[in-house]
Amino acid sequence: MNILVTGANGQLGSEIRYLVINEKNVIQNSKLNIQNYNFYFTDKNKLDITNKKEIEEFVNKNNIKIIINCAAYTAVDKAESEKELADLINHKAVEYLADISKQKDISLIHISTDYVFDGKNYKPYNENDKTNPQSIYGFTKLKGEEALKKSNAKGIIIRTSWVYSSFGANFVKTMLRLKDKKELGVVFDQIGTPTYARDLAKTILEIVDKHYEKLNNFKAEIFHFSNEGVCSWYDFAKVIFEIKDIDIKINLIESKDYPTPAKRPHYSVLNKNKIKKEFNVKIPYWRESLKRMLSYEV
Ligand SMILES: NC(=O)c1ccc[n+]([C@@H]2O[C@H](COP(=O)([O-])OP(=O)(O)OC[C@H]3O[C@@H](n4cnc5c(N)ncnc54)[C@H](OP(=O)(O)O)[C@@H]3O)[C@@H](O)[C@H]2O)c1
Repeated sequence: MNILVTGANGQLGSEIRYLVINEKNVIQNSKLNIQNYNFYFTDKNKLDITNKKEIEEFVNKNNIKIIINCAAYTAVDKAESEKELADLINHKAVEYLADISKQKDISLIHISTDYVFDGKNYKPYNENDKTNPQSIYGFTKLKGEEALKKSNAKGIIIRTSWVYSSFGANFVKTMLRLKDKKELGVVFDQIGTPTYARDLAKTILEIVDKHYEKLNNFKAEIFHFSNEGVCSWYDFAKVIFEIKDIDIKINLIESKDYPTPAKRPHYSVLNKNKIKKEFNVKIPYWRESLKRMLSYEV
């Protein structure tokens, strides 16, 4: 079966590629039959998802049966001043992928974000909780979800949060880059859950491999995925430095004292019960995943 992974040079796309190429044994040990699939890893230069004709030609030529859309405009603050580009990638391009998937009977796995919520909840968000994005990024991602639902294409949407990886740019790498400073200020009033992109990549591959029929029966069904547990960015930073045994003073700051162009939800913890139940997913605790990532990478 032929699988297209878009945005393959980003954090999630790179982790999927890493698992497929470098950890065949690990995947086989977990009984994933990855050898049954041909993966086409593409990024903007090879396949620009904002070009509908290019996507059509690619999926026809390569007889694609599943698309995993890891491509996105993810610069949350920059999106405030690049609304059109963010909308083109996070919304219009998803509409193209969805239309083509519907037309060609392809299953589409699309990734969305906790930033579709306003953060006013006091308990973890369920998939059917009311959305109310506070930023252009969140708004364009929600539009992408809606376009997918409207298309009636087969597949699922996985909302995730606070993604990090040894590939690409993220909070963990930013903290480690700042390790020589005497002290740092990190916000403590935004609460969420970090997601190691490798754990999400593994879950996506397991869904493809073990639950292909189910995947085909869903129509843009939404699922939530992050690691287990809850923390603030402050706690996240503390644990990164603890694990790496780096002595640095971290000061607690409030979001109001760290103004950013995009407003972020104060609380965006995701409830993962649905994905755990439907696909029998085992999700590691965030500190364990972070330890794993930091132990052999960065
Ligand atoms: N990062 C997070 O904290 C976070 C949190 C919640 C949800 N998510 C969602 O999770 C998914 C994966 O995120 P990520 O962290 O892996 O993102 P990422 O590292 O920014 O990767 C996104 C990739 O998409 C590529 N891309 C951009 N425009 C494209 C186009 N027109 N055609 C093809 N590829 C294009 C980017 O290439 P360039 O870099 O060359 O532009 C980049 O390689 C996204 O849907 C994101 O919205 C992420």
